[in-house]
Amino acid sequence: MRAMAQRSWKAGERLALVELPTPEPRKGEVRVGVRAVGVNPVDWKMRSHGPLRLAARVLGPRPPVVVGVDFAGVVDAVGPGVAGFAPGDRVVGGTDFSRRQRGSYADTVVVRADQLCAVPDSVDLTVAAALPVSGVTARMAVVDLGRIRRVQPAERRVLVLGASGAVGQLAVQIAASEGAFTVGVCSARNAELVAGLGADAVIDYGPGDALARARAHAPFHLVVDCVGSYPGAGCRALLSARGRHIMVAGDDPASALQLLVAPRRSRSILGRPTGRRLEPLVAAVADGSLRVSLAQTLPLTEAEEAHRLSRSGRMTGKLILLP
Ligand SMILES: NC(=O)c1ccc[n+]([C@@H]2O[C@H](COP(=O)([O-])OP(=O)(O)OC[C@H]3O[C@@H](n4cnc5c(N)ncnc54)[C@H](OP(=O)(O)O)[C@@H]3O)[C@@H](O)[C@H]2O)c1
Repeated sequence: MRAMAQRSWKAGERLALVELPTPEPRKGEVRVGVRAVGVNPVDWKMRSHGPLRLAARVLGPRPPVVVGVDFAGVVDAVGPGVAGFAPGDRVVGGTDFSRRQRGSYADTVVVRADQLCAVPDSVDLTVAAALPVSGVTARMAVVDLGRIRRVQPAERRVLVLGASGAVGQLAVQIAASEGAFTVGVCSARNAELVAGLGADAVIDYGPGDALARARAHAPFHLVVDCVGSYPGAGCRALLSARGRHIMVAGDDPASALQLLVAPRRSRSILGRPTGRRLEPLVAAVADGSLRVSLAQTLPLTEAEEAHRLSRSGRMTGKLILLP
């Protein structure tokens, strides 16, 4: 099999195309021929810093380091005891370092069956590959951790900071589909896009304090921060009595501090994809109620360029790599 990998965990080492032995699926595992890979900021953060890098170094497989979580493809072999999947099935899923699995920047991955979700023929695998980390995180932020269904429809007000990003676009749509009055914060160039996703109001973060302008729409049941540079206290000031500030972009010391200062109001999140968590997202894409926008599609061998683009923080939608 072919993969884009670092030879070691050394920060700054470039990804290079490597040949690795193609693994056989063991009991409960499924081997997938990867057709598309979704790029997430964690893929490049893991190469340089952060708690996930530490966890992957300790818990993950030995180098060469194949980064990446999201993939969509076609099952090509199943291990003993796998009932739900067979060769030829179209699937989407996420790899998991904590299970000693290699990442998804490859033409082949081996994962456990519970990490996979079937993809109907009507859903393009390139689109499906955009869902695992971004979609699961967005849905967890709004529905699970955000508990949007526990409040009366009239109290369902959601503010999404970073509404034009991969997670933000999905969070806006999920919040709107739950009947929430949804406000998206983005730059002027993305205002039309975010309104088209179902946001009831859009705030351009360019001129001045976006949180101060969001006050006109408060109190919010949820403030979903997909950017990480908005002050925690400012986000919490916009919340209703039972509201929550969900820190999607919460892997820095300042966010960790928010958890100490306001552990009940500010919550961090880990959008770990599983088959079950992917099911409602794939179903929503299939029935047309959830739209995925792809920022750019590149060959897998251009993973370094994809990371350069993702690092810029200026992408509108999802970057996809094609093995
Ligand atoms: N906790 C988890 O499990 C989890 C899961 C997924 C992602 N994350 C984290 O969440 C963050 C977002 O991820 P992503 O994949 O959505 O990233 P992304 O797609 O790269 O987000 C980029 C978007 O952010 C917008 N943006 C930048 N600065 C902004 C600001 N000050 N206000 C409003 N919007 C702004 C940009 O719009 P403009 O170009 O118009 O400025 C761009 O559209 C990252 O830090 C990522 O690591 C965490």
